[in-house]
Amino acid sequence: MAATRSTKSATSASIAKSAERGARAGRTTRVPAAPRAPRAGGTGSAADFIPPRPTLPKLRAASKGCRGCNLWRVGTQTVFGEGPPAADVMFVGEQPGDKEDLAGRPFVGPSGRLLDAALEAAGIARDRVYVTNAVKHFKWTRGEKSARRIHKTPNSGEITACHPWLEAEIALVKPRVIVCLGATSARALLGKAFRVSTQRGKVQRSETVGSVIATVHPSSVLRVPDAEAREKAEKEFFADVRKVGRELKRSGKPGPGTGDRGR
Ligand code: URA
Ligand code: SF4
Repeated sequence: MAATRSTKSATSASIAKSAERGARAGRTTRVPAAPRAPRAGGTGSAADFIPPRPTLPKLRAASKGCRGCNLWRVGTQTVFGEGPPAADVMFVGEQPGDKEDLAGRPFVGPSGRLLDAALEAAGIARDRVYVTNAVKHFKWTRGEKSARRIHKTPNSGEITACHPWLEAEIALVKPRVIVCLGATSARALLGKAFRVSTQRGKVQRSETVGSVIATVHPSSVLRVPDAEAREKAEKEFFADVRKVGRELKRSGKPGPGTGDRGR
């Protein structure tokens, strides 16, 4: 412990349907026990668990034992980021969802499938992309009428406690462009005053991390109940991801994310 601190034709409609099927299946298959009520037990910051001279593999290994906040009691496991170590672009979500919590990998559920479809439509090769989350444990509560695990938004203490992991990932991957998916991620990287609703799709230039673009979270697209409105939300999300593609082109020569850029 350191002292210092792919689916070409995927539409949101079909993804939402398969999410429903998954949820139904989840009820009869593996449903983990209800979370213990969060209580004191975190150290207050993930910084307490960051290894000295970190590399991505070292960070990933150390994150498994993180007790920076109380969410280690709630989620099944730490879900660390994934992707090429020198990815051009990093997508930052909120926290792992139900599927990610069980798989131990980010964006493998319905939101990830919509993200993959948007990347493909924008011509951004998946092997140039690193995906991660602002908070690395799944925060959830039991649904009142079903056994489904219902996502709960992480609070600012949890977002702050988990931030050192994200900071370390950014420092090592050094992406040219960071994309915040949803308000939690935008808040973590662009500050509390940032409003996704009015500032989405606009390139923010940050002194510390280069270009940052925020858009909605893909799960918010999947949750739109009305089919027509959902289609519109999906188009807007895809349009924002296309802007990411343009920013990538503008900010440097496109190339494979695994290329050696001196890291
Ligand atoms: N939503 C997120 O924000 N992250 C994931 O990894 C999956 C769903
Ligand atoms: Fe650590 Fe983040 Fe998990 Fe909290 S949510 S225990 S800070 S990895």
